[in-house]
Amino acid sequence: MKSAGVLIVISLLLTISAGCKNKQVTQQGKNPVLLGFSQIGAESAWRTYNSKSIRKAAEENGIQLLFSNAEQKQENQIKAIRSFIVYRVDVIAFVPIVQDGWDNVLREAKNAHIPVIVCDRKIRTKDESLYAAYIGTDSVEEGRKAARFLLQKYEGAGGTHSILELRGTDGSSASDGRAQGFREELSKNKAFRIIYSESGNFIRSRGREIARNILDANNDALQIGGEKIDIIFSANDGMTLGFLEELASRGIATGNQESGITVVTVDAQQEAIDKLRSGDINCVIECEPDIGQEVMDAAKKLAAGERVPRLLHVEEEIFTENDDLLRIAPRNY
Ligand code: AHR
Repeated sequence: MKSAGVLIVISLLLTISAGCKNKQVTQQGKNPVLLGFSQIGAESAWRTYNSKSIRKAAEENGIQLLFSNAEQKQENQIKAIRSFIVYRVDVIAFVPIVQDGWDNVLREAKNAHIPVIVCDRKIRTKDESLYAAYIGTDSVEEGRKAARFLLQKYEGAGGTHSILELRGTDGSSASDGRAQGFREELSKNKAFRIIYSESGNFIRSRGREIARNILDANNDALQIGGEKIDIIFSANDGMTLGFLEELASRGIATGNQESGITVVTVDAQQEAIDKLRSGDINCVIECEPDIGQEVMDAAKKLAAGERVPRLLHVEEEIFTENDDLLRIAPRNY
């Protein structure tokens, strides 16, 4: 058991950020804060940028980073967190791939007196003392924003509006939260009906595959059981872009184009903003990946034994076809 733990620690050490090859001593003679960070993987352009943000902020703040990539597996995240405990890092931060199943490992961290920051996605636990802070997005609110846009757009339109939903990773707060907020707000108008929902796991190629399967089964028409889809609500840009690629390859236009298929997507990566500008997407709900500085600020305070706010929802915007689209700053991802 012990040697397995040591092996994991060694492999983690290999991923220490450039310039921080060992537990180092700063010029002032102080040990830098040692932060263990467990990332989900690289399922989307958003996620890749989120990892960049963490690495960059760690470097800029003189924080020694142990960065571990879980390749979409919760068990790898749990192993990484255990290795951080064995290595006696000052602070642990992680992006929980799903909401449940963290209590045991977080209790181990607590018993070792290592504070934990939950980043980007939330966890579900009865014991709130298992982590010090959450920093990231408010996914339920993102879902509500998407629904509010639709309620406004279709106000007074008459008839019913059928929705196809692309979910992200089931069990994650990002996907479940968006789905929850969307339904909550949309229930205010019975004209909206979600007639199809499938998980594309936040992956672009899966978005395309879902579109391909639907179109193949319906003679190239975007419909389910003979009913035309009026609205696509997608839990991330990657899946949206994959889905729209397949539609375009079969000559089906979306957004402001003549087909009248409304598209609402979450993230706000540059490609989605470009499609909002070209009229292929109607609404983009921003999800902020650039949370590195906030995480480092909290890590420094926690390592110094200070308290930090328990909940930090980062500021996020909504961009719609009704806005002055020139105001949107270029994205980095
Ligand atoms: O947790 C945030 C979500 O995860 C983003 O919407 C998605 O693109 C990412 O992979």
